[in-house]
Amino acid sequence: MNGKEDVLSAADFDRKYLERLFGLADKLEPYSGTRTPPDTSDPRYHEIRKIFAGHQLCSAFFGEGNSSASTRTKRSFELAMKRLGGGVISFSEKGSSIEKGESKERTFRNLDSYCDLFIIRDREEGSVAQAASVLKKPVINGGDGNNEHPTQWFLDAYSMQKFGLELDGLKIAFVGDLKGRVVNSNIKGLSHYRGVQVMGLYIPGCELPADRWLKSSYQEASMQNYVEALNDFNPDVIYWCRVQKNLGNEGEYSISPGDIEKLPKKAVWMHPQPIPDKELPPEFDMDRRALWFKQASYGVPVRMALIANVLGYADNVEWLFK
Ligand code: NCD
Repeated sequence: MNGKEDVLSAADFDRKYLERLFGLADKLEPYSGTRTPPDTSDPRYHEIRKIFAGHQLCSAFFGEGNSSASTRTKRSFELAMKRLGGGVISFSEKGSSIEKGESKERTFRNLDSYCDLFIIRDREEGSVAQAASVLKKPVINGGDGNNEHPTQWFLDAYSMQKFGLELDGLKIAFVGDLKGRVVNSNIKGLSHYRGVQVMGLYIPGCELPADRWLKSSYQEASMQNYVEALNDFNPDVIYWCRVQKNLGNEGEYSISPGDIEKLPKKAVWMHPQPIPDKELPPEFDMDRRALWFKQASYGVPVRMALIANVLGYADNVEWLFK
């Protein structure tokens, strides 16, 4: 590292880092406004905002068409920064000088002087690392093509713990498009824990690339008999994955509401979202096992804690809670 803390790959963050991050996220959660509005009569609310006052996050989501579309990652990072009392510069190609022919590199060199950290999403694998090598300010990878989405892993791991699950010994089944960045970052992150068992139920053409397996503990099958496979595996988590057509992945699945009762009773259902109704119809949202809205809400405190870490203020925030 070159003196700034970039967050590019889930592989770089071990359990010790995550334990500290999650401890901070727990402390910041009441100030995230995700359950009830923050209590402005609490002096700590103002102290936290003082620490981050004047700091600017640049949220830059690149990619033509819908290839870098985002609802949760972009908004929850921006909200996290605002909840801490910082400011946000929201950048998208459309309406910027990139439309006048300016290169990304020159765009970045300019934005670098306007902000204190970046969250960047882009279509090409490795593009965010490339940006980080140009930028002086720390960069968080908000998804680079099919490669990585480390902060999705952070909030997923936090969510699993909040749902009462132990990451050591976890049994998790990923279902759908396994080529995507979310599965890759989750598997890389889970490799820091002991005894994890992973099942992949793929749609043909969207298998997990072989170099991404957790070697000793990965089993896979096509989605064809996915209900039986899930009941045999008996996972703690069923992690559904959309077919990421915006990143060029191809295939389809369509789960019928009739399958709800046939799925294992014990497993909670997670999903990074968005969830196309065609893949998982809205009836799924009503089931007590569906925890994706809660999961997305945890993105705010986790990203608040991460911003505190990356800006080097984790100790200052911890100190407020002594
Ligand atoms: C995911 C992504 O963009 O990789 N969404 C997200 O960040 N919550 C998954 C997806 O787009 O299907």
